Amino acid sequence: MGGVKENMIVFGDAQNMKELADNSIHLVVTSPPYFNAPFDYPDLFKSYDEFLTLISNVAKELKRVLAKGRVAAFVVDDTLIKRRKYPVVADITKIFIEEGFRYRERIVWIKPEGYIRISRRSGVLLQHPYPMYYYPDNLQESILIFQNGEFDYKSVSKELRERSKIDIGEYQKEKWYLNVWQITNVLPVNNRLERGIAAFPEEIPYRLIKLFSYKGETVLDPFMGSGTTLKVAVNLERKAVGYEIDIELLDIVKKKLEIGQPVLIGNNSEFRIIIREDIKHLRTQLQERIAKNRRKGR
Ligand SMILES: C[S@@+](CC[C@H](N)C(=O)[O-])C[C@H]1O[C@@H](n2cnc3c(N)ncnc32)[C@H](O)[C@@H]1O
Repeated sequence: MGGVKENMIVFGDAQNMKELADNSIHLVVTSPPYFNAPFDYPDLFKSYDEFLTLISNVAKELKRVLAKGRVAAFVVDDTLIKRRKYPVVADITKIFIEEGFRYRERIVWIKPEGYIRISRRSGVLLQHPYPMYYYPDNLQESILIFQNGEFDYKSVSKELRERSKIDIGEYQKEKWYLNVWQITNVLPVNNRLERGIAAFPEEIPYRLIKLFSYKGETVLDPFMGSGTTLKVAVNLERKAVGYEIDIELLDIVKKKLEIGQPVLIGNNSEFRIIIREDIKHLRTQLQERIAKNRRKGR
């Protein structure tokens, strides 16, 4: 059934996933860097085109490594920079369609109203209660689901189907059947492991991995960040592979995945770690820029 022999983390650029054989991955769950979002990735890319080229190159690699009929799920949002909105959701959808994927679904992830992380744009209308001053606060992100051709349901043994069965009680109770998912986001509290990473909550990979992969299969996150997808994949008895360009996240990833620690997060939590020459040092630089932007009140 393909897959990889062992869990693996590669520190290097996901535009080249040479460590992975063709058709070796059963599911991708990821969230790319948020273009040049002022509070996460200020000036990471020279231009919007450079960002789209990254997505396009990664999409090409995903087309190669994903097994036939399998799914890539991208958690993304349009990005607002200096009052200009970049249509990231639409552009990523277009790129994947152009690469030959089928656009299968868009799920809207809604965060609780009490927590708006970036800015309360809606305040503008309170100051100017007149037409044309409407700028709503953003509580959602999109989970885009692309499929690599038709899935052959008969390719999975009866026994594996049963072992990977979805809990209908949970599906009903948590309303997985809707294309709107209400999930609390990871709060940017200072002492959190995920500080400065724009991590997604475990509930997102948890649902996607249960809904789109079978036990023992391999889940890939090409933009691994703190390693949330990999942690959940291993807990759910899948194999996990992650790519991350920023070597400064090594210790955080090790901590999250309990690598080299006596407590195991599952019975399968050994990881091979590869550090390539195309790594970058990003986080210190980004944190400095974010602090500068805050001082300037951007
Ligand atoms: C939004 S974060 C992912 C957060 C992750 N979902 C989590 O829960 O921690 C995107 C990550 O992509 C990484 N990244 C940016 N460009 C990359 C590239 N070319 N190859 C691999 N990783 C890259 C960034 O350093 C960042 O950690």
